[in-house]
Amino acid sequence: MTGRRHRLIIVSNRGPVTYDRDANGARVERRGAGGLVTALRGLREHHDVTWIASATTDEDRVVAGEGRHDVVMVAHDPQAYDLYYNVVANPMLWFIQHSLWGPATTPVVGRELHEAWHQGYETVNRRFAEAVVAELDNDPDATVFFHDYHLYLAPRMVRELRPDARLAHFVHIPWPVDWTVLPVAMRRAVHEGLLANDVVGFHTARWARNFERSCDDVCGSCGRTEVTNHPISIDVDEFERLRDSERVLAAEDALQRPEKLVVRVDRTDPSKNIVRGLRAFGILLDEHPEWRGRVKLLARLDPSREKIAEYLTYREAIDAEARAVGERHPGAVELQVADAFPQSVAAYKQYDVLFVNPVYDGMNLVAKEGPLVNERDGVLVLSENAGAHDELGEWAVTVNPFDVWEQAEALHAALSMDAGERRRRAGAIRSQVRENDVAKWVRGLLSDLDRVSA
Ligand code: G6P
Repeated sequence: MTGRRHRLIIVSNRGPVTYDRDANGARVERRGAGGLVTALRGLREHHDVTWIASATTDEDRVVAGEGRHDVVMVAHDPQAYDLYYNVVANPMLWFIQHSLWGPATTPVVGRELHEAWHQGYETVNRRFAEAVVAELDNDPDATVFFHDYHLYLAPRMVRELRPDARLAHFVHIPWPVDWTVLPVAMRRAVHEGLLANDVVGFHTARWARNFERSCDDVCGSCGRTEVTNHPISIDVDEFERLRDSERVLAAEDALQRPEKLVVRVDRTDPSKNIVRGLRAFGILLDEHPEWRGRVKLLARLDPSREKIAEYLTYREAIDAEARAVGERHPGAVELQVADAFPQSVAAYKQYDVLFVNPVYDGMNLVAKEGPLVNERDGVLVLSENAGAHDELGEWAVTVNPFDVWEQAEALHAALSMDAGERRRRAGAIRSQVRENDVAKWVRGLLSDLDRVSA
């Protein structure tokens, strides 16, 4: 096919689809969770894509045995997968990369991590590497494109078996400078694994710079690996269609709003800083009595990683803080904990203030999705540590995620902003998102991949 590039092998923990059985025993196909799937769809217009991912349901395991060409489901040993996902990737690596550990007391690294590293993380990465090598044997010219923190070891494993392979990796979460929490052998394995790629990409220059610095510390240099940054974004057409869909309109009808609505939409993840956000909203009402009874915080939360102790504790902290604010200010906080995307889009359309205050976040697509479909010239209150702040900070009200006092004042400022200023800022964010949509991200990746294949 003219103008078409080499085949692309995408490798990520979650795949583009996942399978289940319905009540009648018939196979049903569901779209995989997360924005990655939508974002990478564009690559399929330019490449023949084979996608390698973990089988996550029983039916996925059945499909794994059927030998499909476009989606390869790797059926891991369940115990190895549990150690890989629930001990090493989440929370250990996730917590390091979002700076969520509190070194005075956590983590306490012990035998459990060492065993999980060898029997879980290495094992699962090895299985992924074997699946990649099998695909490369069918098509040695293919480019391999790894995603995220689940797969830091696989590139080096592939490189050792196929020295000429073309390998790229995109890291969707922050990169910290300091990795000293992780035992030194694991720290080296993470860095050497990534440096086995020809290209490593991040969403922002900040994470890319940090990566170069930690490579210097841990490995002495980045070697021949090219480090790039491309901010991921959203599919603008898809959101504009969603905005007027029946399910969103129905959710919008059901939405109960007082005079002013503050909205947040997150997974129940400690990196999202939901507890401090609730605290800040409480302070707003304590300190500014004029808002009492006139403003509500709607927190739309998707349950996440519920087998992990740190996540369960965090979930309890969310409930406790919401109760504490509710006792002082009855009805002021509504928590909706459920996977309900149409409800989130309805809330996006209706907010006066969108509150996005992550501790750290690789990008944060909520900060792009909300402003695109919002119909009230709502104001974005945005953490300086969200990747999205690089692109949108100029028109947002910036907050430090640790400073709840400042966040309360930022909410007050956003709620009080005059109509002209709100229109100006909301319009600027909308244009910025429209002009820098996911297609642009994909073009950036394609040019990296083209250089790798040249
Ligand atoms: C982040 C990560 C993704 C991950 C997603 C959902 O966006 O970058 O790799 O898939 O969170 O988390 P989960 O653990 O449910 O896959």
